[in-house]
Amino acid sequence: MHEILAELEAKRERARLGGGQKRIDAQHAKGKLSARERIDLLLDNDSFEEWDMFVEHRCTDFDMDQQHVPGDGVIIGYGTINGRLVFVFSQDFTVFGGSLSEAHAEKICKLMDQAMKVGAPVIGLNDSGGARIQEGVASLGGYADVFQRNVMASGVIPQISMVMGPCAGGAVYSPAITDFIFMVQDSSYMFVTGPDVVKTVTHETVTAEELGGALTHSSKSGVADLAFANDVEALSKLRHFFNYLPANNREKPPVWPTEDPADRIEMSLDTIIPNDPNKPYDMKEVILKVADEGEFFETQVSYAKNIITGFIRIEGSSVGVVANQPMVLAGCLDIDASKKAARFIRFCDAFNIPVLTFVDVPGFMPGTSQEYGGIIKHGAKLLYAYAECTVPKVTVITRKAYGGAYDVMASKHLRGDANLAWPTAEIAVMGPKGAVEIIFRKDIGDEEKIAARTEEYRKKFANPFIAGKRGYIDDVIMPHSTRKRVARSLAMLKNKDIENPWRKHGNIPL
Ligand code: HXC
Repeated sequence: MHEILAELEAKRERARLGGGQKRIDAQHAKGKLSARERIDLLLDNDSFEEWDMFVEHRCTDFDMDQQHVPGDGVIIGYGTINGRLVFVFSQDFTVFGGSLSEAHAEKICKLMDQAMKVGAPVIGLNDSGGARIQEGVASLGGYADVFQRNVMASGVIPQISMVMGPCAGGAVYSPAITDFIFMVQDSSYMFVTGPDVVKTVTHETVTAEELGGALTHSSKSGVADLAFANDVEALSKLRHFFNYLPANNREKPPVWPTEDPADRIEMSLDTIIPNDPNKPYDMKEVILKVADEGEFFETQVSYAKNIITGFIRIEGSSVGVVANQPMVLAGCLDIDASKKAARFIRFCDAFNIPVLTFVDVPGFMPGTSQEYGGIIKHGAKLLYAYAECTVPKVTVITRKAYGGAYDVMASKHLRGDANLAWPTAEIAVMGPKGAVEIIFRKDIGDEEKIAARTEEYRKKFANPFIAGKRGYIDDVIMPHSTRKRVARSLAMLKNKDIENPWRKHGNIPL
């Protein structure tokens, strides 16, 4: 008996070593943790239950039958984060460069199937050289099996990718389908084709980091949601982020205890809007002052900064925030901002997270680059996302809400549930200057007349009361009472229950 037990322990020890100490040291030398160290940091102490530790590949070509490493380059299992169940796979770069074999893919699929059965999120820690070259098409099949599961799980359980090493070629498409992609600076990259192919095809010279590093994807392409400085920071932030999410699409998000009173008054909000309507202010300040304990987990911090997205809590419950940022491009909606916010709203809607929208938007961004880039279709994504959304929607207009952008930003007409405005709100078809230059075109050149007409227009239309008269907003509120009014609205909406008409699926303008 003792011998059998010792044999098991030896087998386990062999599997735990992955590609061996030398390769683990090489991983450390690159500033990366090993696949197991990452799981240890991500999950609660001693909560990890590993599956398929003894799985091996079945390839016999290229002497592969002489090279077997138990586990075959990916560690899978389940555990908890702050006591809540999560499924995790962690690719082990020390075993054939973390490359994906048929057996490796089967392990990931098994994990995902189990997560779907019990309704718990899946976190993937990606660190892989791509398809296992020795296995050829069997590996491609394995990828497609994972993709299919990613798609079936989309909107059912939260899926999060943490890219912590290479992720290239078709391998990028599994993370791309997941709800959030986080990356680690200087050690991770994602691209469809690497720098060498780029050089051959387009004659561009570019490094892997420039082409697909964490900063590129978190600021330029918008593929990644956030970039973290190193593995340790990334995993600790991921634990933090996980606390905002429900386990699946049938659950409400978790409620965490808070000492912050829901009726907290914030007098400083009464003076945050500058007297000059063209002067910016920082919308993040408004968000922080409304959130429980001033905590805000912002997503896509460095991408499309003219719109802010992220999670706060009100009375301990997760709330998704979307807010125009007057500090960047005056808060105009452009292609990137529309895509960023639309995807965020759809995530919140899929997972029962109410959406709180702060509006200060002068309109859609004009110009040929926007029109040629398809702002019509991209802007429509945002409109579509808000309109189809059935979770509670609370909207606060702080200042400008002009034109089509007024309609789009969770207006009453798109089934906004509680639409509030500050007294500084300007809700109108367009800004006073533009309006006057159109309806009093004949007066252009007469500065005095135009100034008088503009002032007249401003007084008449640049306020919240015209919309208020029609019931397009439910109330004009004191800025200092925003947290209290938002909290009450969300409490009132707690049991909101509406359904969209039956259909196979809508046809969002992709
Ligand atoms: C098998 C692989 C491998 C792979 C790396 N290794 N990638 N083994 N299949 N895809 C092995 C190496 O042979 C090496 O083994 C070990 O992993 C570490 O690799 P190194 O090259 O020494 O590491 P490094 O210098 O850090 O370079 C990492 C790398 C490079 C940039 C990822 O290994 C690389 O370019 N690999 C090939 C990438 C690739 O072309 N993959 C296929 C893409 S096509 P030893 O024994 O020496 O430690 C694809 C299609 C997917 O993925 C389609 C899905 C639809």
